Amino acid sequence: SLPVENVQELASRSLNHIPDRYIRSQLELHDDILAVQQPLQIPIWSCSSVIYYHCEIRFNLSKCKPGVNTQLINHGAAQVIEEMKVVTEEFFKLPLMEKMICGQLPNNIEGYGQAFVVSEDQKLDWGDMLFLMALPHSKRNMTFWPQNPTNFRETLHNYSKELHKIALRLLSWMAKNLGIEAHELSAPYEDCNQGIRMNYYPPCVNADKVVGLTPHSDATGLTLLLQVNQVQGLQIKKDSKWIPIQPIYGAIIVNIGDILEIMSNGEYSSIEHRAVVNFEKERLSIAAFHSPNVTANIGPLPDLVKKSAEKYKTLSHQEYLKQVMATKLDGKSLLEHMKI
Ligand code: SIN
Ligand code: FE2
Repeated sequence: SLPVENVQELASRSLNHIPDRYIRSQLELHDDILAVQQPLQIPIWSCSSVIYYHCEIRFNLSKCKPGVNTQLINHGAAQVIEEMKVVTEEFFKLPLMEKMICGQLPNNIEGYGQAFVVSEDQKLDWGDMLFLMALPHSKRNMTFWPQNPTNFRETLHNYSKELHKIALRLLSWMAKNLGIEAHELSAPYEDCNQGIRMNYYPPCVNADKVVGLTPHSDATGLTLLLQVNQVQGLQIKKDSKWIPIQPIYGAIIVNIGDILEIMSNGEYSSIEHRAVVNFEKERLSIAAFHSPNVTANIGPLPDLVKKSAEKYKTLSHQEYLKQVMATKLDGKSLLEHMKI
């Protein structure tokens, strides 16, 4: 990957016009169609035990295509979430030199830095990030885990644990929804790979001409996404339109990734999304990605292909990751390569 400038520093220089490498064409920004202006309040799932039954009903109803994209409230992790938001905000407020203690190394996505840049003429995203592997424990590289703020590591550890539990609960519901045993879908995620990406999007004088995070679907299984502050910026693609998602305080957004589309043999569709930025306000988000462990093959679940034709190839996890690297800059095209 090629080194690029720190976006937070760039934004702090109060330039009248930002470098061309960040400016996108109109075509690219709107994908040739106009984004709808009204933010969408996506369905709310409540996980409190009282309305657990309701959730399942809701969930059945929302077995919609494309993708299940929903917000989860009453998930029992409120305390941990609030603490996680605080340490994330504190980390990004630190002076650059202090953040750089956790700086990315060449050709490695872990640590503090920017998304992969593979060519000199590639457009750049208006945002910085801190990406850390959180599970399994053996994959934690503590050299990238901030020690400032002092409670960062402990907070992230607790956050990782809570979110993994929520992910497993959701996966069991999804399995029931597919008419299969809960463990068939959730077992590969028991000993899962969990990566946590904290995104920081500074305000931008050219906010209407840049993208905070390029359109993509997550190559992973299940993403639990947190809007840290109440600044709107996430958009999902639905019926060929970009739809802004209204942040709901305390809610977790559930995004289906490509691996779940494959495992469910297309019953669930991964969701294409992007992040846009604000003229005046900074925006922060935290994405927790969950994937089966590396020993699990990536392919449709056996019980699902008994009932209908297999739509996707089965690859070893390593082969799948190679495919991801080969197609990573190209929207949902990864799934095209996986189709039979
Ligand atoms: C992501 O896709 O990882 C983050 C999107 C967001 O900032 O809301
Ligand atoms: Fe994403």
